[in-house]
Amino acid sequence: MVEDNTKELWTREGRILITGAGQRVGLHCLRRLLERGERLAMTYHTERPVIGELREQGVICLKADLSQAESVEMLARQIHDEVGPLRALVHNASAWIRDKESDTEYAAVMQDMMQLHMMAPYLLNMRCQNLLLKGRSPLADIIHITDYVVEKGSDNHIAYAASKAGLANMTRSFAKRFSPEIKVNTIAPSLLMFNEGDSEEYRQKTLKKSVMGVEPGPDVVYQALCFIMDNAYMTGREIKLDGGRHIR
Ligand SMILES: NC(=O)c1ccc[n+]([C@@H]2O[C@H](COP(=O)([O-])OP(=O)(O)OC[C@H]3O[C@@H](n4cnc5c(N)ncnc54)[C@H](OP(=O)(O)O)[C@@H]3O)[C@@H](O)[C@H]2O)c1
Repeated sequence: MVEDNTKELWTREGRILITGAGQRVGLHCLRRLLERGERLAMTYHTERPVIGELREQGVICLKADLSQAESVEMLARQIHDEVGPLRALVHNASAWIRDKESDTEYAAVMQDMMQLHMMAPYLLNMRCQNLLLKGRSPLADIIHITDYVVEKGSDNHIAYAASKAGLANMTRSFAKRFSPEIKVNTIAPSLLMFNEGDSEEYRQKTLKKSVMGVEPGPDVVYQALCFIMDNAYMTGREIKLDGGRHIR
């Protein structure tokens, strides 16, 4: 008989920490996990009223600028002091920055993208390894949120795509390094939610890129997070959430 260890995975001690969870996908996942009674922590960069509401609900909220190495180091210390054992670490924080047109700005964009999408997850994974191992269950999770453009490339978000590709590669390296106690996996979405101000023309053009042709919303990421955390035999892998862009 196959042993069902799902319950143990969900009821272990330790918080699920999501970076950049003050809005949109991260906030949605946080709220859905709260509904399930999970113990949570999050990071944010911009002060918003929702941060106070989350604190009232028992979420540990830590402010950090993940584009600054010193701030990431400070955050790692705060996680040790204020959060403690981790059930999962979800690297969601991101900025979708276009490559600039002026040559004085090229380096700045690439530096910001590498810092936010690669250096910050790299440092936090290294610094928090011992916290992820302290849970009761034998398994903990690191989850990297990347992007469909890792596969396809992008002609006007080159630095963004490259930095997300670096993060995708780290999934495999960390999965090797931290196995078997910590599983490390990637979720690679294409369009989840449009941004306010996206034109109707842009929306229609983007919807046509996938065979499913819809804006799925953030819950598909929550579903993928749950699948990864519930599954005891997947590491170094990627879940693609792209409505079938590859077969369009
Ligand atoms: N939305 C989509 O359609 C889509 C498509 C493909 C991939 N993805 C990926 O899915 C994830 C979630 O997407 P999303 O649209 O919800 O992301 P988002 O709203 O653009 O960004 C998530 C959070 O990242 C934080 N962040 C940005 N720069 C930061 C910095 N320097 N320091 C600390 N935090 C910083 C922001 O925090 P504050 O708000 O507190 O400033 C923001 O709330 C991202 O990793 C994204 O790349 C999304």
